[in-house]
Amino acid sequence: MGNISLNQVTKSFGDVQVIPPLDLEINEGEFVVFVGPSGCGKSTLLRLIAGLEDTTSGAISIDGNDATSLAPAKRGLAMVFQSYALYPHMSVRKNIAFPMKMAGIDETVQNAKIDAAAKALNLTDYLDRKPGQLSGGQRQRVAIGRAIVREPAAFLFDEPLSNLDAALRVGMRLEIMELHEKLQTTMIYVTHDQVEAMTMADKIVVLQAGVIEQVGSPLELYHAPRNKFVAGFIGSPKMNLIEGPEAAKYDATTIGIRPEHLTVSNTEGMWKGIVGVAEHLGSDTFIHVHETGLMDMMTVRITGDIAAKHGDTIYLTPVADQMHRFDADGLRIA
Ligand SMILES: Nc1ncnc2c1ncn2[C@@H]1O[C@H](COP(=O)(O)OP(=O)(O)OP(=O)(O)O)[C@@H](O)[C@H]1O
Ligand SMILES: [Mg+2]
Repeated sequence: MGNISLNQVTKSFGDVQVIPPLDLEINEGEFVVFVGPSGCGKSTLLRLIAGLEDTTSGAISIDGNDATSLAPAKRGLAMVFQSYALYPHMSVRKNIAFPMKMAGIDETVQNAKIDAAAKALNLTDYLDRKPGQLSGGQRQRVAIGRAIVREPAAFLFDEPLSNLDAALRVGMRLEIMELHEKLQTTMIYVTHDQVEAMTMADKIVVLQAGVIEQVGSPLELYHAPRNKFVAGFIGSPKMNLIEGPEAAKYDATTIGIRPEHLTVSNTEGMWKGIVGVAEHLGSDTFIHVHETGLMDMMTVRITGDIAAKHGDTIYLTPVADQMHRFDADGLRIA
């Protein structure tokens, strides 16, 4: 259970097509992340799968059955949004029970499922509280609990963590991954945060303007981005993309070097530049280098703390075999 297949799916709002014909296979048990800049169509695609939007053309099938015009409630999927939409006057237990109550499920069965969900989500001690007495992370867990008890074929998450502060986001990210390990249910997770995509996904779908730029595992995308867009989007700090005569030396229109694939020296190296800002994180140092004559600003990532300050002359050398090449259309050259 939990195979989802999109075949030539399109979506237009009025005469604006936001999703051109798109094919996508999501396999049972996979953790799939849709990632891309704001407005690229991530939520629209998720809502098409959920049935909250109608497709303009094309077909969606779930577990081999045509679901294209099936009502959302009949698709067997559970959606978790950024806003938790809990009932404030109901206890956590009642909030989680709500969909089962609506479905007329026996109360003993309800309670068993609530207890199992609460255990999986570390909510056992909070079942009698009201949402107003919970932290943001706990509320999000209740919303997930309400989805779990429906035993969906797949969970659909639309930026579920964006209301949470940075530390809580990391904690919840791990909890959702743990939950996926436990349940082994298909999960589709929308985010614009490429770090979330890299850390959580079995399979990342990179979208731009409704078009799938690449589908692959996090490390496939990191090591072999199909085009300049994916190269620039995946990885933090961003890959340095160099055009012009330096790229031509490598028979490419653009060459790309990730910040972590540059070595530095104060005396010698392939490219000379001047240190702009050096960010000392302790674990790493990010150095932003100007006046290389290659691009506006190059970024270098060095493990650990190294002495580098504004105005220093610095020499950069790319690590052999770690250079990416792109042609005039921005496509990867093998
Ligand atoms: N109901 C609607 N009517 C008209 N246009 C819409 C509607 N919903 C979305 N769009 C447009 O479709 C495109 C994709 O929107 P969508 O919400 O899917 O983007 P997104 O990738 O989820 O962005 P974000 O990261 O900001 O949430 C956008 O250009 C948006 O303006
Ligand atoms: Mg969105």
